[in-house]
Amino acid sequence: MATKHIAVVPGDGIGKEVTAVGKKVLEKIAAKYGHTFTYEEALIGHVAIEATGDPLPADSLEIMRNSDAVLFGAVGHPKYDNDPSAKVRPEQGLLKMRKELGLYANLRPIKLFDELLDASSIKPEILRGADILFFRELTGDVYFGKRERIEDGEAAYDTMIYYKYEVERIARKAFEAAMTRGKKLMSVDKANVLESSRIWRETVLEVAKDYPEVELEHQFVDAAAMLLIKDPRRFDVVVTGNLFGDILTDEASQIAGSMGMLASASVGDGTGVYEPIHGSAHDITGKGLANPMASVLSAALLLDISFGMKQESLDVINAVDAVLKAGFRTRDIANADTPADKLLGTDTIGEEILNRL
Ligand code: NAI
Ligand code: MG
Repeated sequence: MATKHIAVVPGDGIGKEVTAVGKKVLEKIAAKYGHTFTYEEALIGHVAIEATGDPLPADSLEIMRNSDAVLFGAVGHPKYDNDPSAKVRPEQGLLKMRKELGLYANLRPIKLFDELLDASSIKPEILRGADILFFRELTGDVYFGKRERIEDGEAAYDTMIYYKYEVERIARKAFEAAMTRGKKLMSVDKANVLESSRIWRETVLEVAKDYPEVELEHQFVDAAAMLLIKDPRRFDVVVTGNLFGDILTDEASQIAGSMGMLASASVGDGTGVYEPIHGSAHDITGKGLANPMASVLSAALLLDISFGMKQESLDVINAVDAVLKAGFRTRDIANADTPADKLLGTDTIGEEILNRL
């Protein structure tokens, strides 16, 4: 039995609707296992700008820093999407949160539930059983290197830069995860061409000495992109840089069928942040149509990674699986064969998940 304090940061749009379900799942788990979870809400994004003028007010950050984990929704509002010149913007809150909390590792599990085999555009016989955990480095690479327009604006460059310490800390996290899974790790780089990838590979090889039980494989990013859809089952834990990870995880999201199914964790020096990969989805906001499973599975990641509660986390994943097995669907994962009485909304499918916990 443990006592934990959780910052609940719903943000904007469907962020609020799905985080409410994720929080209920945490409450249910606490009751079932006799844990004491306390919750504190904080503002971020458009709602924070409206209330305070700041997309991440200082007291929100303070609440997150003083918590054991953050359950986050999404930020965004159509107002800013149509006005790229707006100086104060919701996503500034998100980037500042990640930076201030020192979150350098983005974990994206790509788990395909068997019941959703037909929701993907990839053939079922190739997909069945795919279960991948990506570690995308989040604070280095070409996103943060020196960039410039030169030669009177006729040319531009960006700098792909990696420090050994940045590679080492994320490699270590990936090896640790590999130890708890299939003891297989794939490191993705472009070491045949890029010097920053050579330092990446050298550093991963150094860290590997501490994990002799883990079978380490190196792939070049172009080959990895091809293998991901040719044979997704050969992937288990993958570690890669910021740019390659950005591209490969978007590609891999298609393995799971819908954005509404994909959870993520951002971890590092400070409090871990757990969030769906989707955004605030203005097109369905307020309609009760959002699939809350990405938030519920984010809560499962939170239990596992920040609290070390493996069984509790597994219970949550199993509850989602059971709801899918029972045939219940939200609109994003339904098809023409889904009977009307199995087609549920955000709260009603949330109730089905809670019932199975
Ligand atoms: P989005 O992820 O919000 O939506 C893309 C499409 O997927 C929409 O058609 C939406 O209805 C659907 N969708 C997303 N999540 C769903 C769910 N849980 N259940 C059912 N359907 C779901 O991306 P979009 O439309 O490009 O951006 C909307 C806003 O969200 C923008 O303001 C954008 O800046 C922001 N955004 C925020 C992110 C974050 O907070 N991490 C990430 C991506 C976008
Ligand atoms: Mg991306």
